[in-house]
Amino acid sequence: MQHQGILHPPLRAPRGARLSCKSWLTEAPMRMLMNNLDPEVAERPDELIVYGGSGKAARTWEDFERIVACLKRLEADETLLVQSGRAVGVLKTHADAPRVLISNSMLVPKWATWEEFRRLEAMGLTMFGQMTAGSWIYIGTQGILQGTYETFGALARKHFAGREGQRGKGAEGQRDRGIETGNALPLHDGGTLRGRLVVTGGLGGMGGAQPLAATMNEGVCLCAEVDPSRIEKRIRDRYLDKAARSVDEALAWALDARRAGAAVSIAVEMNAADLLAELIRRDLTPDVLTDQTSAHDVLNGYVPNGMSYAAALALRRDDPERYIRESYRTMADHVACMLELQRRGAITFDYGNNIRGHAKEAVEKGFADPRAADFRPGGGSRSSGATARNLAIAPAEACGSDFDPFRIPGFVPEYIRPLFCEGQGPFRWVALSGDPKDIARTDRAVLETFPDVDASGRRVPHREHLCRWIRMAGERVAFQGLPARICWLGYGDRAKMGLVFNDLVARGEVSAPIVIGRDHLDCGSVASPNRETEGMKDGSDAIADWPILNALANTACGATWVSVHHGGGVGIGYSIHAGQVIVADGTPEAARRLQRVLTADPAMGVFRHVDAGYERAEAVARERGVDGARA
Ligand SMILES: NC(=O)c1ccc[n+]([C@@H]2O[C@H](COP(=O)([O-])OP(=O)(O)OC[C@H]3O[C@@H](n4cnc5c(N)ncnc54)[C@H](O)[C@@H]3O)[C@@H](O)[C@H]2O)c1
Repeated sequence: MQHQGILHPPLRAPRGARLSCKSWLTEAPMRMLMNNLDPEVAERPDELIVYGGSGKAARTWEDFERIVACLKRLEADETLLVQSGRAVGVLKTHADAPRVLISNSMLVPKWATWEEFRRLEAMGLTMFGQMTAGSWIYIGTQGILQGTYETFGALARKHFAGREGQRGKGAEGQRDRGIETGNALPLHDGGTLRGRLVVTGGLGGMGGAQPLAATMNEGVCLCAEVDPSRIEKRIRDRYLDKAARSVDEALAWALDARRAGAAVSIAVEMNAADLLAELIRRDLTPDVLTDQTSAHDVLNGYVPNGMSYAAALALRRDDPERYIRESYRTMADHVACMLELQRRGAITFDYGNNIRGHAKEAVEKGFADPRAADFRPGGGSRSSGATARNLAIAPAEACGSDFDPFRIPGFVPEYIRPLFCEGQGPFRWVALSGDPKDIARTDRAVLETFPDVDASGRRVPHREHLCRWIRMAGERVAFQGLPARICWLGYGDRAKMGLVFNDLVARGEVSAPIVIGRDHLDCGSVASPNRETEGMKDGSDAIADWPILNALANTACGATWVSVHHGGGVGIGYSIHAGQVIVADGTPEAARRLQRVLTADPAMGVFRHVDAGYERAEAVARERGVDGARA
């Protein structure tokens, strides 16, 4: 790594119980900052980039060193201020205040564009903090694996619970529920993907979690990927079971596994748009359909069909303008096929890659015309030569006379919002000791605290999903950097678990303190109208008071570090979000802070959804005594 012209040695956070700062409350942020930049964790540590495009942990290597030096000298009643990856001041505060306060990538709204951000970044004035990169609580790919496991789990509970053997209700079922899905859902009553076929595309950094998340939910996953090296990598990492040599083989395996109720994941090397056209041609409708190709980027992400992968890479290099047109055209094909399969009954959802937006743009820019008689969803398919005509889909039927990609719902309103209404969200923790045995002990503690079988041996259905995840994560997830775990917990359960962890530290059952934090993608900490707050019931998608209130509340309650960020997940101008991390060091003071913070943080999610009119949130507030300030 370069550092003022000299090589910076690869970073690895200190392990063990010996402190290099003055307390665990400052040792923890120091270790977590270093851990974010550990080459096992970070995508491009040389450039301080942790994940998500250009998401950084500190602005420059000099800034990194300055933050570490400040943390080493910080007293128990002082707070370090970090402005977009740079230490800018130390304040006298008090023992229960956060030890670090962070603001990343914030811009005045009228100036909040990528162009302006990049200009200011080039001047050395800011950095892009993504969500957990600049707030020092990234834990590698386990985060997206668990998020995808939750999404598939919520989908299974919504569409398949208590309906063994029935196929999904498809678009009608989805439309019936619409954005009201925050209300009256069959939550936690045992639905899984057993005997269901999930079809998707993309086995990249994030998309590569899909096959394992589907099999962890007991389903069959068939994934199209154009790049054979990605397929090999996922097999090597045990995220994917096997690769088929042809679409015939892939479909035969997938259908056999679906019939047998076996949990199997299969990749096929082909364009995702072509796979869907092939399914239509063969009259095969998957139970679940989504996509995680890199459709957010029309040039350097998504790969067009109608040419080999090598030819696409050459076109990208030699004629980017034509590549972009081909890319847009394929996305329109791809989404047309998704709409047709949705019409035929596949439960179809957008998984946060903006394929809907780009398909719509493709039509607006004149690169595709779904109403034209010769529009050919899957027209680039080489294996079948499938076209709208020989697929026997009238174009207007495939796409509707109004080609509307947004008939496909986003994953948050469809599956995640009901969980948000319960104050549920990502609860992650890291063993500062570096000892995997500490995480094994905490895994056992989760299973003991929330068992899926009660004392008399009866099943506790609403805990089965959590316990299955914890057991399988223990077996299947390889740690990156400091050992860590994540699961989703709701209001009440987060505080309970935090106190259990603090007791484990106090009793010496783990060898050093534990930090507890979360992604900013949480129930009450993000405003992101194209993702987390898409389609809010009261239209409050773009209201950004909530993440700010969340950060203020976590500060008031004494989280160890608190952050506010702009642009994470969806880019500059599109989101505002907040994070918190708290240390369980085994002391009674920590127990009081944990109780306050891990109650207040999910309470923000309940408040946010009560305010937006979700009945489920109102019920949770009533049942669990969340004070919604209704005089
Ligand atoms: N739902 C979420 O919470 C969430 C989280 C992170 C990322 N995302 C989005 O998901 C997408 C995937 O992210 P990633 O990190 O895996 O990206 P990535 O660039 O690492 O991987 C994308 C993969 O898709 C493949 N691909 C591209 N076009 C294809 C096509 N037409 N057919 C088949 N394969 C194709 C590429 O070869 C690559 O392997 C991105 O758009 C990202 O913004 C969503």
